Amino acid sequence: MFVKTSRIPGFYRLGLEARRQRVAELCGIEDHKLSSLDHGGLPIEIADGMVENVIGTYALPMAVALNFSVNTIDYLVPMAVEEPSVVAAASNAAKMVRAGGGFHVRVSAPVMIGQVQILKVPDPEDACRAIEAHKEDLLARARDLAPRLVERGGGPVDVRARVLSRPQDPDGGMIVAHVHVDCRDAMGANMVNTIAEGIADRLAFLARGKPGLRILSNLSDERTVTAVAQIPDRALDPNAGAQVRRSIVAASRFAELDPYRAATHNKGIMNGIDAVLLATGNDWRGVEAGAHAYACHTGTYRPLAVWRDEGGSLTGTLQMPLAVGTVGGSLQVHEGAKLALRLLGVRSSSELAAVVASVGLASNLAALRALGTDGIQRGHMSLHARVVARAAGATGDMVEQVAREISSLGDISADRAKQILERLRRSGAAESKSKSDFDKRDKR
Ligand code: MEV
Repeated sequence: MFVKTSRIPGFYRLGLEARRQRVAELCGIEDHKLSSLDHGGLPIEIADGMVENVIGTYALPMAVALNFSVNTIDYLVPMAVEEPSVVAAASNAAKMVRAGGGFHVRVSAPVMIGQVQILKVPDPEDACRAIEAHKEDLLARARDLAPRLVERGGGPVDVRARVLSRPQDPDGGMIVAHVHVDCRDAMGANMVNTIAEGIADRLAFLARGKPGLRILSNLSDERTVTAVAQIPDRALDPNAGAQVRRSIVAASRFAELDPYRAATHNKGIMNGIDAVLLATGNDWRGVEAGAHAYACHTGTYRPLAVWRDEGGSLTGTLQMPLAVGTVGGSLQVHEGAKLALRLLGVRSSSELAAVVASVGLASNLAALRALGTDGIQRGHMSLHARVVARAAGATGDMVEQVAREISSLGDISADRAKQILERLRRSGAAESKSKSDFDKRDKR
């Protein structure tokens, strides 16, 4: 079901229970279901069956990002992340984008690539031609290997081959065949690997070579998203919107011209993307590998998102491969991931990809806006101050008070936080003692 709205003013000020109730209510979920997150959404017995040599589970904060409107639908976006400010930054940026009509995302068909390497090929060009000539027969064999996927409207859709080296080269005659598989709502690694392994012998026979590696490629450039956001100046800053717009465009150009900057620019995008992938039980290493390989597809490492001034309003475009699934993999067993998908309410892997890409673009916008104005440290430090205050033992309202004081002193250390906390507690105790003396006197 669709979330009623992703705008919840004052959400961060609510207590944890109240936040859970609000989210459950908006997403149409019974609020006791959210208590499955108490143990990180993963009971130890289930964890024990997921990987080898288990000795425990490892938790991360799970939060929801607000304000997202993607292709005119509102989403509360679950994010699992340890870095302060990622969730707040994405939510703030989504609010700015919302003022310009929200994110508009195009998603390609969910086509993954399986690779079959073929070695000792006597005539690589001829081998590629033979594979091309037998495409229909290869596809029929490949379809027989994934009958359920074919039933669901997906399955193998293409076979292609490329020469990698010639017999006289040091590596000998080598080609690679790609089988393209529409994986529907699954990320598809298992299906693609099964198909690649299943047709490898036939491919090698046609190429008159020997089969080598058979495995999916994480450079899933047939499964891409293009997210676009347009932000009016007044949403960037009510007083200095044009200046902020120019600084974001200049920051984008910096990343386009310099791979050192592009790497950090893309890290900011992946801050948001990985957090949603983790929360929804997706393979973030695969997406990371694909993203960075794609960032190099022109031969130079480039930013995955760029920002332009289009007729006086800021326009951002993110394009990248995004292999995500809403079925299969760890999703079968991880309660937290299943709950995250229910909160999100997406009905397909393409819809999930659209939301994930939007969070990436939002994270990038937030980072560039902060870097181009106050610098990143101000926001980071105030959040860091809250983490230090909590670690020093502050709870409830004390967290804000301690964080504010250590920030204004410019000494965000555990020692200073403890000192301030003790002082606040002493004065709080003294205050409540004098209040109870007063109450006693009053009653007499
Ligand atoms: C920090 O996690 C991410 C940033 O470095 C991204 C960027 O520089 O664009 C702030």
